[in-house]
Amino acid sequence: MSVIENSKVTIVGAGSVGSSAAYAALIRGSARHVALYDIAAAKVEAEVLDLAHGTQFTGSSDIVGGSDLSVVEGSHVVVITAGAKQDPGQTRIELAGVNAGIMKRMMPQLLEAAPNAIYVIVTNPCDVLTVLAQEATGLPPERIFASGTVLDTSRLRWQLAQRAGVSASSVHAYIVGEHGDTEFPLWSSASIGTVPILDWRPDAGAPMSVDELDMIAVDVRDAAYKVIQGKGATNYAIGLSTARIIEAVLHDERAVMPVSTVLHDFHGIDGVALSVPSIVSSAGAVPVRETTFSPSELGLLRRSADTLRQVADSLR
Ligand code: 2OP
Repeated sequence: MSVIENSKVTIVGAGSVGSSAAYAALIRGSARHVALYDIAAAKVEAEVLDLAHGTQFTGSSDIVGGSDLSVVEGSHVVVITAGAKQDPGQTRIELAGVNAGIMKRMMPQLLEAAPNAIYVIVTNPCDVLTVLAQEATGLPPERIFASGTVLDTSRLRWQLAQRAGVSASSVHAYIVGEHGDTEFPLWSSASIGTVPILDWRPDAGAPMSVDELDMIAVDVRDAAYKVIQGKGATNYAIGLSTARIIEAVLHDERAVMPVSTVLHDFHGIDGVALSVPSIVSSAGAVPVRETTFSPSELGLLRRSADTLRQVADSLR
């Protein structure tokens, strides 16, 4: 990845997700300057030092950081990973109360330090926190969005690629809606190359069936619970997903990614942050209004919206 000269991303939160995102950004060369900010001075300084010790082996990106807000200054992108993470079996929505409080306290300070940045919210429940942060800051919806189902979509593409015997980059399928238990795949537009997913003939094994696709969708929805049960948290894949989003912004890629923005009059959905295919660029994220949904998929999107609206309303 050619580094954009003088580009800077600050990752807020030096926990497992934030540190993994910084690590991924360094290795991928997502930004010229990667900064890590956390109020826990000893922790963030140790993470920055540990990352810096390896920069001989990464590209031309450098790593800085600390517990002073001045670390955030000059950021083109600010990624928020700070907050409580799920315990085994806990849903993302159950984190809403505590993490909404952290977000409400943090956002004004971050905005003062980096008033022109694009804000990417990773902390869960990322969709709910995005709508609350957008309302609290008054930022235009495109400038404050969540990583949403970029990670879930990567999980789906990995599973389908394994089953179909192709590269994940040739699997064109999206998870949309809540980054959480009401997320769902857009099967109606899923394809491998130009072949609709159910028409694909794997070299080994039978074609995929609707039942098998439904099982894959459940696996993807519940993937985080499985990883958290085994190792206490997820961090690598969300770190890589976050680095990919940072790149799309800093390189002004206009890449279509399922990030979560506050939707307005999107197929009748208003005032809720949900992941739908969106164009990600240096201006931020804008939903692709021409995205097609089958009638049943539209019903699932509205169910996701209703779930998240209730949670956001309970926190206002
Ligand atoms: C994940 O899906 C926990 O939201 C995080 O890995």
